[in-house]
Amino acid sequence: MGEFVRLEVADGIGTIRLDRPKMNALNLQVQNEIEECAREATVRDDVAAVIVYGGERVFAAGADIKEMQTMSYTDMAVAVEGLHSFTTTLARIPKPSVAAITGYALGGGCELAMCCDFRIAGESAQLGQPEILLGIIPGAGGTQRLTRLVGPAKAKELIFSGRFIKADEALAIGLVDRVVPDAEVYAAARDWMAQLVKGPRFALKAAKEAVDRGGELDLDSGLALEKSLFAALFATHDRLVGMESFVANGPGKAHFEGR
Ligand code: CAA
Repeated sequence: MGEFVRLEVADGIGTIRLDRPKMNALNLQVQNEIEECAREATVRDDVAAVIVYGGERVFAAGADIKEMQTMSYTDMAVAVEGLHSFTTTLARIPKPSVAAITGYALGGGCELAMCCDFRIAGESAQLGQPEILLGIIPGAGGTQRLTRLVGPAKAKELIFSGRFIKADEALAIGLVDRVVPDAEVYAAARDWMAQLVKGPRFALKAAKEAVDRGGELDLDSGLALEKSLFAALFATHDRLVGMESFVANGPGKAHFEGR
């Protein structure tokens, strides 16, 4: 349990909860604590899905500008490894994940949200990559993950301008997947993940790997990855459960056991 970030586990869902007033600025300690929580969520059997949540007021306003202000090139050449380490660890949790976004998700905060499989935002949420206004560029994966989500032209438009976009525009360009009333963001994220908690755990892991890793490969290599992952699932108990249940009772009634 970190000072500013904790993993709260209930009903198979692990919530990585940021709590660093006023804006959940991602200083080095917060980055390390998120990485620790992501590792814990990865290995804990009682966590089948993950929510990243910054509380009712703000998701995260980015890397801690006050901490970065005095850093030299060599300081940042070291620190950028940490920025990429915590975001990559989060993105590679082999379980479904969603960012529950209230208020601002800016800079490193938007990059944090983009490490999840999905983003659900409150109606008054605002997202953006405003680093250009500080004379820098996104440095926690934003140039790459934003481009993959919304395409190169839109990513450049947002990164070059640094402008904030509201939830409805983020939804229209595919940066968020669902918009709900502000007060319902966390509950809606829980409802979404609750549907996946009872899913076949190894198939969900394989699906995530096939989409995420496969998307970085040429078609033939991606198809080869899919073939291996698909065949490997025939070693799991859940695929027996799923097929037996279908034959006996029809679709969608299997009670998977996660093995
Ligand atoms: N780092 C450090 N402190 C921050 C911060 C940040 N990213 N964002 C906000 N704060 C602090 C403010 O300095 C202020 O502190 P004090 O109360 O001590 O003065 C406090 O949080 C509240 O902020 P505001 O008074 O500015 O509140 P506001 O409601 O008027 O505006 C905001 C909120 C729009 C989020 C505005 O604070 C803002 O633009 N923040 C910076 C956003 C940004 O540029 N993020 C990118 C950071 S760089 C980065 O993330 C690099 C990377 O890719 C990894």
